[in-house]
Amino acid sequence: MSARTFIADVSKHEGKEVEIRGWIYQTRSSGKLLFLVLRDGTGYCQTVIGKKDCDEATWEAFSKAGLESSVIVTGVPRPEPRAPGGWELGFKSGRVFQSVSDWPLQKKEHGPDFLMDHRHLWLRASRQVAILRIRNELSFGLRDFFYRRGFVNIDSPIITPAACEGTSTLFGIDYHGLPAYLSQSGQLYIEPACIAHGKVFCFGPTFRAEKSKTRRHLHEFWMLEPEIAWAELDDLMQLAEEMLVDVVARVLDKCKAEFKTLERDTAPLEKIKGPFPRVRYVDAVNQINAKIDAFNGQFVNAAKQDAAGAEKGEFTHEFLKMLVDEYKVDQGHLAAMARKILKGDASELPFERASTGDDLGSTHETILTKMHDRPVMVHRYPAAVKAFYMQPDEDDPSYAKCVDVLAPEGYGEIIGGSQRIHDLDLMRKRIREHHLPEEAFQWYLETRKYGTVPHGGFGLGLERLVAWVCKLDHVRETIPYARMLNRVYP
Ligand code: 4AD
Repeated sequence: MSARTFIADVSKHEGKEVEIRGWIYQTRSSGKLLFLVLRDGTGYCQTVIGKKDCDEATWEAFSKAGLESSVIVTGVPRPEPRAPGGWELGFKSGRVFQSVSDWPLQKKEHGPDFLMDHRHLWLRASRQVAILRIRNELSFGLRDFFYRRGFVNIDSPIITPAACEGTSTLFGIDYHGLPAYLSQSGQLYIEPACIAHGKVFCFGPTFRAEKSKTRRHLHEFWMLEPEIAWAELDDLMQLAEEMLVDVVARVLDKCKAEFKTLERDTAPLEKIKGPFPRVRYVDAVNQINAKIDAFNGQFVNAAKQDAAGAEKGEFTHEFLKMLVDEYKVDQGHLAAMARKILKGDASELPFERASTGDDLGSTHETILTKMHDRPVMVHRYPAAVKAFYMQPDEDDPSYAKCVDVLAPEGYGEIIGGSQRIHDLDLMRKRIREHHLPEEAFQWYLETRKYGTVPHGGFGLGLERLVAWVCKLDHVRETIPYARMLNRVYP
């Protein structure tokens, strides 16, 4: 009897017969030899079947079995550096459990819509396996980080009676005849819990209904939210920094094979060490605008030097190529602007300046993060553009004691958080100013009535973290089944 084992463990059985149950990942034949790469979810392993080495029926079955046929193979593992996974199984016997001849994802040139329609099958592709394993490691690593520090996991409800924060559009549901919503954040529910336990976190699905189509927006995503009693803004920034340093180091250590599959250059991740730059919002706006003025100026000069590129819609000038590749400026749009420049019309330029008083746009975030090789913490945004519950800054109450953490390599916001208003009267005033239904917040206000203290927390978007760590162009691959503007299937 051969022992059933997983591909990840074959090295422990060198020279001894084992049984692998899995699927055919690659197949190639040279007439008398069949080269198969098997996968079983834990790894990849090659086996070579010779026509002479087995009976006719087995040879026939394996010869006909296409990609993703399910198979059981016994053989003897030996190292083979040239094989995917580094191991080969010396074939002894085998059986095809289900033969597949029409695997739908064979061709390389499938577009994203086709792949997303077949997400239930696409999950098996090696890149997708690597991404979701990295997600798994990050998700577990984050929980472990908070557990090690004595935080208590408190699950917040998904169905909520009122529009929590008043800052985004929610999915409404019919709750036994009463209106209710899918939660946009667990924060309001874990604020009372941090008064009960000191340090808590929730980690669950959250829902946002805005009709947004950007590469970092999902309608359903997972958010990890710590909340701490007796904490002020500086404590939150310190915690966010330590959390990211910890979890990035962990995933670099545990997921080497996955990063290799993704061809992710991990050098930028190895630089993720504290301290992270902390930049006040007003300074960030100035730095961004200085860069924008320089870029727009360079664009005018470059456009004049690459007339052929403007005409063709494909640039040869390094600076213009850089704007497309690194700053994700749409090439067609850039070419249209360049053609206008050539006609002496500089009314439209690639970058719009950030205006003091507004939230930062995603391009502004990209510009700022490209100035640093670590996450940037932008703090003290104008209170007017942020949620009602944020504690005003002592020096200038028109700014809020809040922070957004922007990921490097152009990824932008992955964390948003703040110190919360703890004064009952001020909180009541803010709820009114934001035209929120005061009755719905009675329970929330009671945290400010019975033993109020300064407290705060933040929310980390898991998918945006995964997108950055894996260096993906879009969040759709970071979650098993993405919910997007035009997609709730499968
Ligand atoms: O900045 P947000 O909206 O913060 C809150 O909801 C706070 N209540 C959190 C808190 O203080 N406890 O969202 C936090 C993070 C963002 O930085 C982003 O990473 C992620 O959640 N996020 C999204 N991720 C994917 N798709 C979306 N539509 C997202 N909206 C927010």
